[in-house]
Amino acid sequence: MQSSVRKPTDEQYAKFKALVENQLGLDWSKEKKYLLHGRLNTRLFELGINYDEYYELLIKDRSNREIELFYNFVTTNKTEFYREPAVFNWIRENIIPALREEIVNGLREKIRFWSAGCSTGEEAYSLSFETQALAGMLSDVSNGYKILATDINTQALVAAHKGIYNQEDIKNVSHPILNKYFIHTPSSGNMITTYMIKDLIKNLIQFRILNFLDKNYPIATNFDIILCRNVLYYFKDDVREKIFEKLIDYLSPGGYLILSGTETGHRIKSATKIRPNIFKKTH
Ligand SMILES: C[S@@+](CC[C@H](N)C(=O)[O-])C[C@H]1O[C@@H](n2cnc3c(N)ncnc32)[C@H](O)[C@@H]1O
Repeated sequence: MQSSVRKPTDEQYAKFKALVENQLGLDWSKEKKYLLHGRLNTRLFELGINYDEYYELLIKDRSNREIELFYNFVTTNKTEFYREPAVFNWIRENIIPALREEIVNGLREKIRFWSAGCSTGEEAYSLSFETQALAGMLSDVSNGYKILATDINTQALVAAHKGIYNQEDIKNVSHPILNKYFIHTPSSGNMITTYMIKDLIKNLIQFRILNFLDKNYPIATNFDIILCRNVLYYFKDDVREKIFEKLIDYLSPGGYLILSGTETGHRIKSATKIRPNIFKKTH
C-alpha cells in the first residue's frame, strides 16, 4: 500500500516558501523542500490530497484550524532546560543581584520577564527556577512577579503548559532544582518516569500564543528581560531587524534583550550592545 504522497514540485514548493515567509517570517530561500515534505507528507496522506490542494485548503481556511496545524508542522521546536548555561550564569551574576537590591531598597515592586519563542517551556521554566527567590520577595505585591512565555506553535504551548518532562528532558537540571521544583513519578508498568513542574512555578508563568509577525502584540507591559533565543535566526534579515526593534520597545528602560550565544553580529538601533548577543535599552 502507498503510504506517502508525491514530493512537491519546484512550483509547489515556491508557493509554500512564500506562505511561510509571509505568515511566519521564516526564511526558506535555502532549499527546504525536503523539510516541507518531511513535515507534511503524513498530513497530506491522511487528507488524501496533493500539495496544490493542501495550499488551497490553507489559504481558504476560515476556521484557522488547518493553518494552526500547518504552523505546528513547519516550526522547529528544539529546546532544552538551561540551554546555553552561560546565559543563565550571566543572568545569575549580573541581573539577579541588582534586582534583589532594588527590591530590598524599596525601589522595585514589579518584575516582568518574557520568553519569546518559548517552544515547550524549558526556557521559561529555567528562568523561573533561577529567579523564584525574587518572586518570593515580591509575594506581598499582587502580580509582583510574572513571566510571559509565547510561541506560535500551539502543540508546543500545550506541552509547555502541562510541564511534564521525561528523563532525557531533565538531563541538564541539577538535583537540588529537580527536588525543589519537580514532582517525580517513577516508572511503573508501561508508564515511563515523569517529572512534572510544581504549581508554585507554573503559577508564575503565563503561556500564550503570539506570532512575531502580528502588527500589534496583545501585551500591555514592559519587561526587564526578554529572552528571544534561537528563534529569529530562522527569519529573513529584514523581518528579523523589525522584530528586534519591536522587542526593544517592549523593554523597560535598563532592560535586556538576550539572544542565543550564536546569534551575534546584529545591530539594533535603539539599544546598546553590551555583549555579542545581549542588548540593553538605555533610555
Ligand atoms: C528552536 S525554538 C527555540 C526555543 C527556545 N527559545 C530555545 O532557545 O531553546 C524556536 C521557536 O520559535 C517559534 N516560532 C517560529 N516562528 C515564529 C513566529 N512567527 N512567531 C512566534 N514564534 C515563532 C517556534 O514555534 C519555536 O518554538
